[in-house]
Amino acid sequence: MIVGGFYGDEGKGKIASYLALKDSANLMVRGGVGPNAGHSVSWKGRTYKMRMLPSGFVNPECRLLVGPGVLVDPNIFLKEVTDLGVEHRAGVDPQCAIIEADHIERDRGSDYLKKKIATTGTGCGPCNVDRVARIAKLARDVPQLKQYIVDVPLETNTAIDDGKNVILEGTQGTFLSLFHGTYPYVTSKDVTAGSIAADVGVGPKKIDDVLIIFKAYVTRVGEGPLAGEITEEDATEKGWAEVATVTGRSRRAAPFDFNLTKRAVMLNGATQIAITKMDTVFPECKNSKSFHDLPKEATKFIKKIEDVTKIPVTLLGIGPSVEDIIDRREEQ
Ligand code: IMP
Ligand code: MG
Repeated sequence: MIVGGFYGDEGKGKIASYLALKDSANLMVRGGVGPNAGHSVSWKGRTYKMRMLPSGFVNPECRLLVGPGVLVDPNIFLKEVTDLGVEHRAGVDPQCAIIEADHIERDRGSDYLKKKIATTGTGCGPCNVDRVARIAKLARDVPQLKQYIVDVPLETNTAIDDGKNVILEGTQGTFLSLFHGTYPYVTSKDVTAGSIAADVGVGPKKIDDVLIIFKAYVTRVGEGPLAGEITEEDATEKGWAEVATVTGRSRRAAPFDFNLTKRAVMLNGATQIAITKMDTVFPECKNSKSFHDLPKEATKFIKKIEDVTKIPVTLLGIGPSVEDIIDRREEQ
């Protein structure tokens, strides 16, 4: 399982797509909230922004499923399926709740949601409200989705039991969790490892590894606390200025936060760590081929993370493309 350790935008799309290729994933299943997520995948000179389908599409052998806990916007789902030409390997659970125009209007039209919380405006919060009220429409009621409907928990558990390679892709980040995050500046659901498992219908004992992803600095979009926040000018100077995938807003930025890291590892029961954007903070990383090639400050930083969390940092992002990764699992 892959989860986000900060406030989303840690680079989950890049890590998920790398693992889909490297670990020959047979199945990748999306958990998390819904199309408020935007996972960027830079692959063969193009950048894809995934909002509904798992990032494992880069591996043509990988099935791409959406678990029943995830909210589905049929327009976005169907467009992604067609744009990527993955009609034959995409599936959605009949129990996914459906985002309708009214949810988007309620999200964007509410001063509280739009202005105070600064949501993504994708209708996710109001749709989860309707799901809890048990009035939301489900994927099984949408004729356009008919050809994609599959029993996702059954297919996922069967694949695990058959020894296939299965990756569960979480979205958002630990501190956007409705339960564990910076309430009320959070998303409309828990998004830690326990909930991602529930989103796809896999019990906790079947998860071999929880890989938590952190970026080498912290960003967040929308409102809410951000310890050590720097100004937009400083972020630009450091090369940390980013634009949000879904909303196009500027992301706020802060230095790497060891306290959040330690707590996120605890909340997710993480067993491994990936650190992305190492090359942004330590530019000489770009040319490194292995952990031992990294500049000294970079190895010191990684060792400190391992010291604080007591789990290994196994993957390091050193460039934008899917392949720009140092994989320390190979050094063992
Ligand atoms: P909502 O999930 O659209 O209701 O937005 C609630 C808060 O979560 C806002 O601060 C959003 O910016 C943030 N958020 C939700 N999904 C993501 C994501 O995938 N990446 C980054 N921030 C997110
Ligand atoms: Mg994102």
